[in-house]
Amino acid sequence: MLARAHTFTIEGLETTHVTVEVDIRPGLPAFTIVGLADAAVREARERVRTAILNSGHEFPARRITANLAPGDVRKAGPGIDLALACAVLAASRQLPSERLGVSALYGELALDGVVRPSWGALAVAQAARRAGLRCVLIARASAREAQLVDGIEVLGVERLTGAMRALSGGPGDRLPAPRECEASRHPADASGADLADVRGQRHAVRSLVIAAAGGHNCLLSGPPGTGKTMLAQRIVSILPPLTRSEAIEVAQIRSVMGEPVGRLSRSRPFRAPHHSVTAAGLIGGARRGWIGEVVLAHNGVLFLDSIRLSS
Ligand SMILES: Nc1ncnc2c1ncn2[C@@H]1O[C@H](COP(=O)(O)OP(=O)(O)O)[C@@H](O)[C@H]1O
Ligand SMILES: [Mg+2]
Repeated sequence: MLARAHTFTIEGLETTHVTVEVDIRPGLPAFTIVGLADAAVREARERVRTAILNSGHEFPARRITANLAPGDVRKAGPGIDLALACAVLAASRQLPSERLGVSALYGELALDGVVRPSWGALAVAQAARRAGLRCVLIARASAREAQLVDGIEVLGVERLTGAMRALSGGPGDRLPAPRECEASRHPADASGADLADVRGQRHAVRSLVIAAAGGHNCLLSGPPGTGKTMLAQRIVSILPPLTRSEAIEVAQIRSVMGEPVGRLSRSRPFRAPHHSVTAAGLIGGARRGWIGEVVLAHNGVLFLDSIRLSS
């Protein structure tokens, strides 16, 4: 029998919908995964098999083929485990497939059947909503992050058995109450840095205010010790807090960088890379999924101190 489940793979800021198709038919016992899987995904076979057995279910001793579609997109990371396990269970008639067809499943499986959180929960929830899926099934620890996205049901589960219960129409595991947005203070405010600290420099202050109001770039030039760094570090103190959609964009970048996002921060990012930063560090390189300081400063301030202008 054939079963389908939906999951996502993340590369840089790109979150791609992956359909996991599992076919089980008579033959020598085998479990093959095809569809441009990286090493972590290929290793999913062992995790999925053992997690299913340790959850008290049967791992079919037949010929199992799992296809990860689309075939031309590289599938990275272990977040695919949960979808793979549930598709195997549905294909072996141990799980009804109706709800599986409208849910995104995202999480790594431990050998004892525990669903471990995978980074990028927010990006996955957003992509799942865009893909028209009705619900996201995710590790309980990531559920609050996924819940920041409106318009999609988020079910957090601790174990594979919890996921099976939720996919059979039952509830997810109890989630901690969602927290309200953080107050709109920026770390610069918290540290007491305020544009009002600057004495005099009326022209420079006015330039900064205009740059902040219009979202313009600004170059401060002058002798050492005249307050250029001090002025630049205080730009965020006069910027408005992030709107909700801007805050989601910032949180999504943090999420795909592997940082846990428990609540939406309304603070504008302030990035001040050292002047020795490499081009890859600044504009992003393949190793970090093309996310550099420029992306990390999205919706905020990128402060390049002591840049050298070559003629
Ligand atoms: N206009 C100013 N108002 C208040 N303090 C200032 C002013 N200009 C300079 N300072 C003081 O001098 C220090 C050095 O300034 P800084 O911003 O590092 O200068 P620059 O970056 O231009 O070399 C600041 O930390 C601040 O204490
Ligand atoms: Mg300086």
